[in-house]
Amino acid sequence: MKFAHDFLFGAATASYQIEGATDVDGKGPTNWDEFVKIPGKTFEGTTGEVAIDHYHRYKEDIKLMAEMGLESYRFSISWARIIPDGVGAINPKGIEFYNNIIDECLKYGIVPFVTLYHWDLPLCLEKDGGWLNRKTIDAFLNYANVCFESFGDRVKHFITFNETVIFCGHGYLAGAHPPGIHNAPEKYFQATHHVFTAHAKAVIAYKKRKQYGEIGLSHVFTPAFSIDNSEDNLFAAMHANQFNLNWFYDPILKGEYPDYVMAWLETQGIQPKITADDRESLIIAAPLNDFIGLNYYQPMRVERIHMPGDVVEPTRENATGAPGNPSFDGVYRTVAMDDKRYTKWGWEISPDGFVSGLQLLKEYYGDIRIYITENGLGDEDPIIDGEVCDIPRINFINDHLVAVKKAIELGVNVKGYYAWSAIDLLSWLNGFKKQYGFIYVDHDNGLARKKKASYYWYQKVIETRGSNLKS
Ligand code: BG6
Repeated sequence: MKFAHDFLFGAATASYQIEGATDVDGKGPTNWDEFVKIPGKTFEGTTGEVAIDHYHRYKEDIKLMAEMGLESYRFSISWARIIPDGVGAINPKGIEFYNNIIDECLKYGIVPFVTLYHWDLPLCLEKDGGWLNRKTIDAFLNYANVCFESFGDRVKHFITFNETVIFCGHGYLAGAHPPGIHNAPEKYFQATHHVFTAHAKAVIAYKKRKQYGEIGLSHVFTPAFSIDNSEDNLFAAMHANQFNLNWFYDPILKGEYPDYVMAWLETQGIQPKITADDRESLIIAAPLNDFIGLNYYQPMRVERIHMPGDVVEPTRENATGAPGNPSFDGVYRTVAMDDKRYTKWGWEISPDGFVSGLQLLKEYYGDIRIYITENGLGDEDPIIDGEVCDIPRINFINDHLVAVKKAIELGVNVKGYYAWSAIDLLSWLNGFKKQYGFIYVDHDNGLARKKKASYYWYQKVIETRGSNLKS
C-alpha cells in the first residue's frame, strides 16, 4: 500500500471558512458577508466574521501543517481581498496577505495549491447580477490575471472554481446560498454556463503566460447509482449523471455540452444563451486543462419518481446534502438505504462508491489527471481526557485512501489527495458544530489550536507513503 513519490498528500481549506477579518486591511464585502445576516440561513446564525481567525494566525496554522508533514496545502483566495469592488483597484494589503501565505508554505516545502473562487464573490458583482451577468466573466478573467501575475512565479497549481453545481444549485434552485433564489432552472443553467466560460477564458489566459504550471477546476463528485436493476431506476441514475456529472465536465473537458441535457433544456425552453465567442473559448480551453479536481464525500442512490419540480422548500435543512430530496425536475429522488452507512449528518460513507465512480469517470473522460481536492468526515469529535479522539475520521480517511489506491491500480490517473480539512473551520450551513479538521480549534478558549488523534495518524500516513493504511 505505498503511494508513488510524485503523489501529493495534502489537506484543504477555503478563505471564507477560515480567515475571518472580513473588513480588515481594505477587503471589500462579499455575497456571503451579506447572506449570513439573513435570519435562518446559517446554523445558529454563525458567520465568517472571525471564523477561526486564520488571517492573524496563519503562521501558527501553517507551522502545524508543516509539522504534520503536509506536502501540499490547498487554500482559496478571497477575490474581494485582492480587488475589493470586484473590478477596480487592486488592494496591496490583499496581495501581501496571500504572498505571506504562499511564502510561509514554501518556507516549509509545502506545495501551495490555489483555488481562485471558493464561493465568496465581491458584493458589488453580486448586486450587479452575479453569475447571471456576463460582465462577471470578464471581471473573473481580470481577477484571475491579477492572481497569475502576482503569485504565478511561486504557485504552480491553480484551481479556477470550486463546485459550480453547489454554488449555482444552492444559489438558483435551493435558495440556500447567495443569491438565495429558489427554483429558477433557467437562471441556474445560464449561471453555470457563465462559470464554464469564465473558467475557459482563465485557462487560455494562463497558458498564454507560459508560467509552466497546472490549471484545472474542482467539482463535487457525487456519482449516481440506481437503487436496483429496474429499468426505471437505471434510467434515473443515467439522468442524474447527465445532469450532475456530464453537464459539469463535458464543457470543460470536451468543449461542448451533453446532447441529452441540451435536448431536455430545449423541451423546457430554457437553453442557456451561448455566444459564438463562448463556444470558441470552451473549445480552445478544453485540451489545455491539466487536471480535474474531485471533491468526493458520497455517492447518490437514486430512484425514479414522476412528479413535477418545485417540491423542495428552500430551507437550510433540505440543502445539507443528506438523501431524501427529489431532483429539481421531479425525475428522481435520492434515497437513504438500509444496507448503507451514514454520517451523523446523513451523508453516505462509501469508499466502494468512490472506486466505481472513478471508473465511471475514466470511461467518460479517459486518462485526465485527477487530484482528489476534498474528502473527509464531518463529525462532532469526542474529547476524552482533554484529547480529541476522532477515530471515525481516521477510519474514514483510511478507507478512502485505500479506495484511491485501488482506483490507481485499476488505471485511474490520481496524482494527489487533499483531506477536507486541514483544520476545523466554519461549515457554510452547519456552523462550527460539524468538524472536519486534523487540528481542533477551541472556541471556548480563544480559538486555541490542538492536534487531534487524526493529526498524528495522517503524519504517519505521509511519512510511510501510505504503508500504515489498513485495507
Ligand atoms: C464542499 C465544500 O462542498 O463541502 C466545502 O467545497 C465544504 O467548502 C465541504 O465545507 C463540507 O460541507 P459541509 O456542508 O459539511 O460543511
